[in-house]
Amino acid sequence: MKESKRTFKTDGVDETIKFGERLGMLLLPGAVLALIGELGAGKTALAKGIVRGLGVTDMRAVKSPTFALVHKYEGRIPIYHFDAYRLKGSEEMLHIGSDEMIYGNGVALVEWADNVSGCLPQEYLKITLTAVSENERNIEICGYGNRYDEIINNLS
Ligand SMILES: Nc1ncnc2c1ncn2[C@@H]1O[C@H](COP(=O)(O)OP(=O)(O)OP(=O)(O)O)[C@@H](O)[C@H]1O
Ligand SMILES: [Mg+2]
Repeated sequence: MKESKRTFKTDGVDETIKFGERLGMLLLPGAVLALIGELGAGKTALAKGIVRGLGVTDMRAVKSPTFALVHKYEGRIPIYHFDAYRLKGSEEMLHIGSDEMIYGNGVALVEWADNVSGCLPQEYLKITLTAVSENERNIEICGYGNRYDEIINNLS
């Protein structure tokens, strides 16, 4: 399977949101994004940008769905925003009906995807955020599958 990787750097939450916006504009139905990183790494900030890039104007609604486990937003494509922080494994994720949302025609954003790796399809975009200082983040994007290769190449 085609694999491609690129790393970006942001300085401040606004840059992460802007970056997410550019990424969101490139996404197609069926895209699955695994957002990985420690508490406060910026997964939700990135998700906010992605959601905006998908045409949702009210970003206030975008918060870690820690208790609800999944939030749905109506963009140009339906967006399913998961937070698997509290989940102990893929079973629990499947119980909330993740398969239909992940293998459908929406866009799935999964915070703490490493907790539920068994729920992810073979092809997906893995995004790992790392804090390098108070305001700087490394954003490593790794695409598994052809469709993600193109997205990564189009990210300037
Ligand atoms: N470059 C940056 N990108 C993103 N967030 C940043 C950056 N610099 C500072 N921050 C701050 O880091 C925090 C990131 O919080 P956010 O909720 O996005 O993290 P998270 O990874 O979703 O955490 P959690 O696992 O708790 O849901 C915010 O308080 C934000 O202001
Ligand atoms: Mg979060």
